Amino acid sequence: MDSGTGSHTGDDYNGHGDGDGGMQDGPAPGEAFEEMLEPKLHHRRRRELADGFKKNKVVNEVLDKRTVMTLYKMITDGILSGVNGSVSAGKESLVFWGLGPTGADVALKIYLVSTSNFKRRQAYMEGDPRFASVRGGTRNMVYLWARKEFRNLTQCAEAGIPVPRPIHVANNVLAMEFIDAGHAPGSGIGDDGGGARGRPAAQLLHWPVDYSDYRGALSMLRDMYAKANLVHGDYSEYNIFKVRGRGLVVFDLGSAVDRRHPNARMFLQRDINNITRFFEKKGVSVDDPGRIMEEMTSSS
Ligand SMILES: Nc1ncnc2c1ncn2[C@@H]1O[C@H](COP(=O)(O)OP(=O)(O)O)[C@@H](O)[C@H]1O
Ligand SMILES: [Mg+2]
Repeated sequence: MDSGTGSHTGDDYNGHGDGDGGMQDGPAPGEAFEEMLEPKLHHRRRRELADGFKKNKVVNEVLDKRTVMTLYKMITDGILSGVNGSVSAGKESLVFWGLGPTGADVALKIYLVSTSNFKRRQAYMEGDPRFASVRGGTRNMVYLWARKEFRNLTQCAEAGIPVPRPIHVANNVLAMEFIDAGHAPGSGIGDDGGGARGRPAAQLLHWPVDYSDYRGALSMLRDMYAKANLVHGDYSEYNIFKVRGRGLVVFDLGSAVDRRHPNARMFLQRDINNITRFFEKKGVSVDDPGRIMEEMTSSS
């Protein structure tokens, strides 16, 4: 699989490589992961395990022991060489900045078992023929959800849709390409050669947007449906990065369902409505969402 940048040839996801990056949500380095970890680990394993985690970098106090062990296994399996710090803390998932075996940045999305809201997620699981036999307790459901996002990313990447390249999934930990702000000369970001590392690219909502962004956002949704057989299910200005020199990148694919899901069309219409509303609010002249829906679903 390539990096996810090159294979796309169709519609314009890549309206702008310039402009103001807007807000940058950065990592918040802080407490030492090992401090949190040490009392929880058996003495026997401590020396062997403590290595991959950088001293004085955050992982997070809310990670339970099993998640920590999953991260360690990813290190001993050679999928990661370390975990640097936290990038985002949502209610049901955390995202960390990790490092791959050769030091490349990796995004680690960790689904929390304790705060998982399965009533909400079940609607996106049942009815998807790819996950026909949904069974088990909350923990298993969370693991399944992580695999679902991994699979959705894989289907999109294979169809040439710009997403973070999926790398690995183990239990509740999903490793994928880290989408950062890019290193444009003169941008003020990354000029020192490393300023942007570990900082996610800004989402669409933080950028000035225009008609080409609107077309690009619709193109990604259309291609997901027509080429990857998926409906995003949570499509919004929050789940699209805009990256200098690369264009739009869609992410947060946990909710994406197979086209055959009985509610697929309802989810697609909602996705179209949401993104339309955003661009309309920004003063972009938008098309009728009903017509867009028709156009997206009639050809494929
Ligand atoms: N592949 C990635 N590269 C860089 N940052 C990421 C990546 N995936 C997620 N993030 C960061 O984590 C935040 C939350 O991720 P998201 O998948 O949207 O989870 P949530 O379910 O909490 O909305 C994003 O807004 C972004 O800042
Ligand atoms: Mg999100």
